Amino acid sequence: MNNKLTKLIKYYSLINHNLIFSNKSINRYNLGQPIVQKDKAKNLQKLREEINEIKNCKLKENASNLVFSDGNPNAKVMIIGEGPGANEDKEGFPFVGRAGQLLDKMLNAINLSRKNVYITNVVNYRPPENRKPTETEVERYLPYLKKHIEIIKPKIILLLGSTAMNAILKNADVISKMRGKWIEIEVNKFKIFSIVSFHPAYLLRQPDQKKFSWIDLKMIREKLRKVS
Ligand code: URA
Repeated sequence: MNNKLTKLIKYYSLINHNLIFSNKSINRYNLGQPIVQKDKAKNLQKLREEINEIKNCKLKENASNLVFSDGNPNAKVMIIGEGPGANEDKEGFPFVGRAGQLLDKMLNAINLSRKNVYITNVVNYRPPENRKPTETEVERYLPYLKKHIEIIKPKIILLLGSTAMNAILKNADVISKMRGKWIEIEVNKFKIFSIVSFHPAYLLRQPDQKKFSWIDLKMIREKLRKVS
């Protein structure tokens, strides 16, 4: 292939996110059960029970289901969203609504799927009317999220949206300033590479921003090659 053609393809893959985030729907069911180390499975179950036992929480009182996680607990990539919406509350799994469908397509574009990523949220119960979780709610659920990260031990954390970014990075910056760079973080003494990107719900409202999330996804693809 000549140089000019290679450059052209690179350029198109950078800007033509509509081709890259394909319109075809992705089957997120029947992925098969991953084999999870006994200890890890036990610790995840314990954490789920601890969250299930939370008392005096408005989020929990208004929700139908605990939304714990989806994906592969052995994954190198852990994705953290904000909190469950109506579909997630109904099904008990994160990112199953429209934003989740877009997330599946984004992952698919870099050859990832729920088979090889692990997904959770900052809060595990749906905030009423899909409002953002309050600071108090985020602080209440943060120790559980940190424990979750410690159990999974991912190499890479993708923080989707400002709630996840603020909770983990403890900053109040805007996503557009923070996205697209690697930030090394320490969670419960465990070092991980993190990257911030736009939340898929935001991308549904602002599709012209997908070109930036495509850059972030490619950074993850590259980093995965190095940390594997
Ligand atoms: N948005 C999120 O942040 N998390 C979900 O699970 C669904 C939508």
